[in-house]
Formats: sequence, C-alpha cells, structure tokens
Amino acid sequence: MAIVAAHVSKRFGAPPVAALTDISLRIGDGEFVSLTGRSGSGKSTLLYILSSLDLPSEGKVEIDGTDLTTMPPEDLYRFRNERMGFIFQFHYLLAELNAIENILMPARKFRQELARQPYAKALLEQFGLADKMHRLPRQLSGGEQQRVAIARALIMQPRYLFADEPTGSLDSVNGDIVMGIIREVNRTEKTAVVMVTHDPDFANLAQRQIRLMDGRVVQAE
Ligand SMILES: Nc1ncnc2c1ncn2[C@@H]1O[C@H](COP(=O)(O)OP(=O)(O)OP(=O)(O)O)[C@@H](O)[C@H]1O
Ligand SMILES: [Mg+2]
Repeated sequence: MAIVAAHVSKRFGAPPVAALTDISLRIGDGEFVSLTGRSGSGKSTLLYILSSLDLPSEGKVEIDGTDLTTMPPEDLYRFRNERMGFIFQFHYLLAELNAIENILMPARKFRQELARQPYAKALLEQFGLADKMHRLPRQLSGGEQQRVAIARALIMQPRYLFADEPTGSLDSVNGDIVMGIIREVNRTEKTAVVMVTHDPDFANLAQRQIRLMDGRVVQAE
C-alpha cells in the first residue's frame, strides 16, 4: 500500500506556466512525510494531486495500486471518503452544524452516522472537547475549531491523512496541540501523513522531508 507519483507535472493557465515539473516519489504505508519549500514552490499543488483532489497535466498517481485518474467519479468519491482525510489551514466547518455533527459529516454521507458516533465522542474526548460537542463553530476558539476539523478528517479512520499547513492559522500553543494529535494518529493508528508546513520544527518531526523549489523536488531525505 502506497502513494506512487510517476513523472508528475502540472501546468496552469494559458500560456501554461509550470507549477510542478517531473516529480516522482513514493509515500509508503504509515509514513510521516513533510512537504516544505518557499511560497509558490508547488507544495499545495503537489498535495492536491497526491490526494486526488486535482489531476496532473502529465504523469500519474497511484494509490494502493489504483490509478485514480481513471476511476469513475462515484467510486473515487467513496475511495476518498473511506481512505483519506484532509486538513486545511482554514477548517471549513459547516457553520450551522455543531462540533459532533461536523465530525460525523463524512460518516453521514454513507449512512454510518450512528455507527461512528462512539468514535466521534472518543475523538472529542481525546482532543479535550468532550464538554463542547454541541457548540457551533463560532462558539469555539480557532484552535478548538481546528481540532474539530481534524476529528472530522479522522472519523472514517483513513489510511492517509493530508494536511495543508494545519497549524498555519494557529498560535504556538494550539499549533503544538495540533501537531501532537497528528503525530499520535500516525504513531498509534499507523495513518500515513503528508503534511505541508512552513514551520521547520514541525517539518523535522516527520520521518522524511520532501523539499520543493520551483516545482521540483530538491531534496528528499
Ligand atoms: N489554480 C491555479 N491557477 C493558476 N496558477 C496556480 C493555481 N494554483 C497554483 N498556481 C500557481 O502554481 C504555483 C504553485 O502554487 P502552490 O499553491 O502549489 O504553492 P505553495 O508552495 O503551496 O505556496 P504557499 O506556501 O504560498 O501556499 C504558484 O506559482 C501559483 O501561483
Ligand atoms: Mg500552499
């Protein structure tokens, strides 16, 4: 089980400008990889392509042996929902749903809301939010909202967790809490993590850093 990118390039616009050029890499089961590089180097673009949220202009990406570019949309949707979790810099919680309802959204889509409820509660407990599960997002602090968003990403117990600057909008205390949660998930659930970050200390927590410059991998260790 792995994510394998082979000769991936991505161009935007007309005339086309290269955001990624000839990237080949493999992210193995349970790995924790950070994606670093300057603003505009292609980190988010690569993350979206690795996670099937965007398509490469050239090359291909296989996840667990499946080429997602050729999968019918319905199957792709299910595959993503069951195997992948996403965390973004801004959480995109639904304003009209409370914390536990937001967490259960991915489960609701497949009528697993009830079955997943105990796990949602366990995550809330683990993230220090047990007494806040009925609050709306606007009644939670930024750090709490991000923890809810992480719980939502984890509710289906995904094999892969993709995070685009998950601590980017948080202060250092909340950033540390969120990083602690991500590391713990990687360690205990063996969830593979691919995380974009600007923070060198957080990037160093990963087993491997992939550094981008002008859309190319400059250093993979
Ligand atoms: N939808 C798009 N249309 C046109 N150009 C894009 C699009 N998305 C990204 N780009 C360009 O591709 C390049 C890489 O962008 P990307 O968002 O991947 O950078 P990044 O490394 O994530 O930067 P940051 O650290 O600022 O988030 C940039 O030059 C950007 O302007
Ligand atoms: Mg980005």
